[in-house]
Formats: sequence, structure tokens, C-alpha cells
Amino acid sequence: MVSRIRKAIIPAAGFGTRFLPATKAQPKEMLPLINKPSIQYIVEEAIASGIEDILIITGRNKRAIEDHFDHNIDLEYFLKKQGKWEEYEEVLKIAKMADIHFIRQKEQNGLGHAVLCARCFVGNEPFAVLLGDDIIDNPSRPALLQMIEQFRTHGKTVVGVQPVLPEEVSKYGIIAGKRIDDHIYELEDLVEKPDPDKAPSNLSIVGRYIIHPEIFDILGETKPGRGDEIQLTDALRVLCRQQGMQARILQGDRHDIGDKWGYIKAILSFALRCDDLHDQLTAFLQEQAAFSSNNKNEQPPAEEW
Ligand code: UTP
Repeated sequence: MVSRIRKAIIPAAGFGTRFLPATKAQPKEMLPLINKPSIQYIVEEAIASGIEDILIITGRNKRAIEDHFDHNIDLEYFLKKQGKWEEYEEVLKIAKMADIHFIRQKEQNGLGHAVLCARCFVGNEPFAVLLGDDIIDNPSRPALLQMIEQFRTHGKTVVGVQPVLPEEVSKYGIIAGKRIDDHIYELEDLVEKPDPDKAPSNLSIVGRYIIHPEIFDILGETKPGRGDEIQLTDALRVLCRQQGMQARILQGDRHDIGDKWGYIKAILSFALRCDDLHDQLTAFLQEQAAFSSNNKNEQPPAEEW
């Protein structure tokens, strides 16, 4: 069996109901963070982690994702004609990024079902999963690379985790296990959305996984669970019992961009890192904060010159 992680799948077929109506006719993964669609950050993370082949699981209304990673001959010609070389290079780079393949999940039967759609693409080797709506921002050491390095040493399925506030554990999948070093946990179980007083830890599963291929047989037998969907977590619990599993505390800022507040925070955080936006945005936020605390219901006075 290949122990190198060469293949990644990016499930991006969900309806994105938390973002309706914006996601009625366009995928949430194409919502931009400044001038780049969020899924491009995820593809870039996979490539920076050494992934060679990427399969994006799409659904209806997701054509924009395929178009984004393809050539746009008219646009390329136009930019060349206008001498907009920087923009031309940027657009060309996206079309040449990596070997990106697409498959449709015909019915949105859950994340576990989306992963199962990748069975033929993956074959019999361990593979990575990066969720299309979870950005983990670490420019110096990509989150997936942190997990791949752990997999190379320990050889076990790895789930990415990060600590959350105790009152937030009931929103996430939470791990139960023993810490074996600064960043690694040996897992005993995964618990979906526990009550805060029953949670075994405050480490929540974020959208990064490295999984052994035996998961496919398990997923094939997994019955629909929460929300009447085939849940990846349910299948991972079985795999954990069969083979053991580890968690990796990921270094990086996590942005759940499928959630409105997560999306707003992601935009602000990325904008604050842009040289051409930082000063303007900081001044604007300070002005807004001062204005809203001083003049709750007032508009600025009209002036005549
Ligand atoms: P979510 O649980 O965020 O569901 O999926 P969603 O439909 O995308 O969004 P909401 O909750 O309705 O707003 C987590 C990830 O799994 C993918 C999604 O695209 C997202 O990346 N997914 C989910 C699929 O690919 N197929 C599915 O059937 C469900």
C-alpha cells in the first residue's frame, strides 16, 4: 500500500443553507475572500502540502467551481491584448494549478456519502480530505502538511482538531483521547455535538482528515444518521475502533466560512494582511466603533460648502 499522501478530495456539494439566498444559484465555496474564491485557498493548501491529484466533489449549481479552475480563453486573450500581464499570469496560474478532477454527488446525502463518491478516484491508498468551507490559515506551515508529517511517522488515520470555548462544544464533533505529545492525541472515540457537561474535551474536529482506504467499506454500510445524512464521523468512529486513530492540534487560524460570522471574520482577517487594504480597513473599523458608541441612532450632520 502507498504510504505517501498523493490524493486529496474536497467535498463541495452541500447546499449551503446557512448562506441562502446567496447560495441558491452559486456555490458557497466560490464566495470570495477579498479577490479569491475560498475554494482556491483550499486547493493552494493541498498543493503546498505536496498533493498531486485533487478531486472536487460538486453538485448541481456548482459549474462555477469547474469554470474557475479551467482556462478562460476569451479573458486570457483580452488581458493579453490590454497588456494586463499581472492579471493574465494570475488567471493562467489558476488553470494550471494541479491535476484537478471533478465528480458530481447526484444527491446531497451527507459528507460521508460525498466521500464515498471518491472511492474509484482514491483506490487503495490513504488520502486527504479538505472541507470546501473550512479555511485554516497558516502561510508558513499548511495545516494539511502538519497532518501529513504526523501520518508519515505514525501511519494512522488523522483528524485535524482545534480547541473551542467550553460553551461551543455542542456545535462540533469532539474527540475523546489521550495526549501523547504537544500536538498529538491518540483517540478513543469521536462524539458528535456533546452537551457541554458531557464533552470529553474541548477539541473540535475541523475540516481536515487523512484517512485509510478501509473507510470506504465502512461508509458503504453506514446508515443515515443525524439529519438523515450519511455522516463521515459515524464511519470514522468504526474505523477508530478497528485500526486506532490520532488527532492533530492544527496550528493556524480556522475560518468556518460556511457560517456568516465566520465568513465576515475571514474577510477582515485576510484584508488586514493585505498591504493595500490594512490602513484603510483599520481606520474604517476604528471610525465605525467610535461612531456607533457615540451616536447610536444618529447620522453624520449634513454640511454645506
Ligand atoms: P455542511 O455540513 O457545512 O453542509 O457540509 P452544507 O450543505 O455545505 O452547508 P449548510 O450547513 O447547509 O449551510 C460540510 C462540507 O461537506 C460538504 C459541503 O459542501 C461542505 O464542504 N457536503 C455536505 C457535501 O459535499 N455533500 C453533502 O451531501 C453534504
